[in-house]
Amino acid sequence: MTETPIVYLNGRFLPQDQAYVSVLDRGFIFGDGVYEVIPVYGARLFRIEEHLKRLDDSLAGIRLANPMTHVEWHEMFEMLVEKNGGGEQSIYLQITRGVAPRDHAFPTNTPATIFATSSPLKPLPRELLTSGATAITLEDIRWKHCHIKAIALLPNILLRQEALDSGAQEAILIRDGLVTEGAASNIFMVNDGVIKTPPKGPFLLPGVTRDLALELAAANGVPHQECNISRDELLQADEAWISSSTRELLPLTHIDNQTIGSGTPGPVWQKMYRLYQAYKEALIAGEVE
Ligand code: PDD
Repeated sequence: MTETPIVYLNGRFLPQDQAYVSVLDRGFIFGDGVYEVIPVYGARLFRIEEHLKRLDDSLAGIRLANPMTHVEWHEMFEMLVEKNGGGEQSIYLQITRGVAPRDHAFPTNTPATIFATSSPLKPLPRELLTSGATAITLEDIRWKHCHIKAIALLPNILLRQEALDSGAQEAILIRDGLVTEGAASNIFMVNDGVIKTPPKGPFLLPGVTRDLALELAAANGVPHQECNISRDELLQADEAWISSSTRELLPLTHIDNQTIGSGTPGPVWQKMYRLYQAYKEALIAGEVE
């Protein structure tokens, strides 16, 4: 990693301390934009087509044309990763509706603002994986388009902070009695050996890590089901974990001060975690795309 990270801004690579965006950018003024977080292992982009597909969907969801093709995104990300020293990184991409006088209406003939940065992907503290993490459940106060990866994350920030303030690592959100996802993660539970996770829809982000976990379960004969989960079912689960690009599959051993299963990361999580690590190794070895 070079000392000052190199970022991408509107067609140029430049040192982060020289990258500036106008105060009239609609991302700053309205939170009018979408983002992606893409992990990189051994300088290889993780599930890049899946991330780009979700980016397409998010852009369509806010009615903003994709300013680049998949091939162009791919090339730009690879250059960004290389300029920042390769290895394990986490790319953050943000696209906003550009710079225009403040007006709720979409501006015309205004280019999108494109910003990407890549920072070292820090491994999780070992203890979180051996002892498990803690979560609390909170009411899902977000809007009804949570499948869009919008940069406007104020509810998620408030919910995550409430969890942190209570000594937990994540907030698990409940809408109309049903579990949706975490403040910045998807949720899984295990009951009688069957992995369960809520189905996709407008109330949760279709996580790329979530989809890979289901794909790995299917490929390895691990029973799994996409179904509604109530808060009570979650608290009575044999195992639970959250998934995200930055936290991979993180076991939850306590939710709302209740112990989940045996209180230690369970056997199904261990199997899925091993499969996930093997997938990363295969990516680094160039055996999967
Ligand atoms: N967030 N749900 C929400 C609300 C999220 O913010 C995230 C990830 C996920 C998991 O998605 P994925 O597996 O594709 O990372 C689910 C990223 C990491 C973030 O905002 O930093």
